[in-house]
Amino acid sequence: MGVTAVVGAQWGDEGKGKVVDVLADGCRIVARFGGGSNAGHTVVNEYGAFRLHSLPSGAFHAGVTNVLGTGTVVDFDSLGSELDALHAAGVPKPLLLISARAHVIMPYHRALDGVKDEARGAMRIGTTGRGVGPAYVDKADRVGIQAGELLDPVPLAQKLSVILEDKNRLLGERYHHPGFTLEAVLELTNSWRKRFGSVIADTDSVLSSALARDDGILAEGQLGVMRDLDWGTYPYVTSSTTFAAGAGPGLGIPPRYISDVVGVVKAYTTAVGEGPLPAEMAEGESTWLRERGQEYGATTGRPRRVGWLDAVALRYAARLTRFTRLAVTKLDVLDGLRTVRIVVGYEIDGETSDRMPLAHRLSRARPVFDEVDGWTEDTSSARCWTDLPHACRRYLDRISTIAEAPVSLVGVGSSRAATIRLESPEPAVAH
Ligand code: GDP
Ligand code: IMO
Ligand code: MG
Repeated sequence: MGVTAVVGAQWGDEGKGKVVDVLADGCRIVARFGGGSNAGHTVVNEYGAFRLHSLPSGAFHAGVTNVLGTGTVVDFDSLGSELDALHAAGVPKPLLLISARAHVIMPYHRALDGVKDEARGAMRIGTTGRGVGPAYVDKADRVGIQAGELLDPVPLAQKLSVILEDKNRLLGERYHHPGFTLEAVLELTNSWRKRFGSVIADTDSVLSSALARDDGILAEGQLGVMRDLDWGTYPYVTSSTTFAAGAGPGLGIPPRYISDVVGVVKAYTTAVGEGPLPAEMAEGESTWLRERGQEYGATTGRPRRVGWLDAVALRYAARLTRFTRLAVTKLDVLDGLRTVRIVVGYEIDGETSDRMPLAHRLSRARPVFDEVDGWTEDTSSARCWTDLPHACRRYLDRISTIAEAPVSLVGVGSSRAATIRLESPEPAVAH
């Protein structure tokens, strides 16, 4: 069966949570390979609506083991609150494993995330404030704490006393923050060990056994290509790899097993946080789309920036990622429009291009639009290809052409049922 990776093709919040929940049927493992509790993946099902920050979106499926892989940074407090929320809603306890090699988001990472982003002033990134960037900085600086170290309290306390001295000096002298006592931090790490110690494990051997048995594995991406640390709109990016390729190092999976890459494409563009977004609508124009799509951040509640579909960004993402198929989400949000616009080029300093420049040039880009026919019908009850209006099918074909991959799932609502499955994707409709 190999590994199916589900990744965001835009700026994040494409609907990866719903798509993973839909595809998790029949899978044995759903694994997050990068990122931390900056994620906000929404799953709507018979138990209610859930915003998962740390837990993988296979959490509602009996028999699925949910893995937080080596490439993730783990926020144990967020994980605990999510498990409590699932329990309160009557969801059976999910099977969970956390890689012993994954790094831990510590309280000083969260504190540093907030004060550092504020101190950037006009250059602020608008992070989610969850400590993700500082945790990855410490990992690269080789002063991070791995989840497996929580199991060995004596050496952990020794290591933390050295690290805390450094962090407290930085927090106090540079940012006038009170810092953290060793006792308070050890109280936290002890509570994490008590609650999660038994699920901190050698996840790579679990995954390699699953591959050997040919079990279905879903790798759940975080954010989208345009926020990737290397290929996104740097520095307005996250601190991890958002591509399917990240599932290799992030889970310990040899890349040749990643045979299926589902690119999740929202039918229009949204982003949270700072940085260039050429497709963005002007404030007055964007209200209807934000309200219709309920575009508010799942993690921070911030209003999302919204715009038309950006074909330049989608083509760039497709070239880098080579999706094997697409899940197009929130098509229903565009119902009722006579025309739909698509950004097909960027005009920068008087020249038009369809290539993706670095962020400092992208911030000067003005969008070049194409206009296509919209549809006035309601698509929310469509359940197969032929239920969709012709103009809607043509729009999906256009997305498929831009992203050079067939559309295999179409979302027409937030619930699991509001999904059109095109298992053997339809050829382009006759125009
Ligand atoms: P993720 O971070 O990629 O998982 O996406 P988010 O959960 O942050 O944002 C997607 C939002 O759109 C959530 O509120 C979902 O419930 C909702 N959603 C997902 N797919 C669809 C769809 O096809 N139609 C509509 N109307 N809402 C959707
Ligand atoms: P999902 O997985 C949307 C954005 C932040 C900021 C930048 C860096 O739900 O798509 P970070 O906290 O990672 O250092 O912030 O990335 N961001 C997200 N935007 N959806 C997310 O996750 C995000 N995770 C981070 O707003 O611009
Ligand atoms: Mg989200």
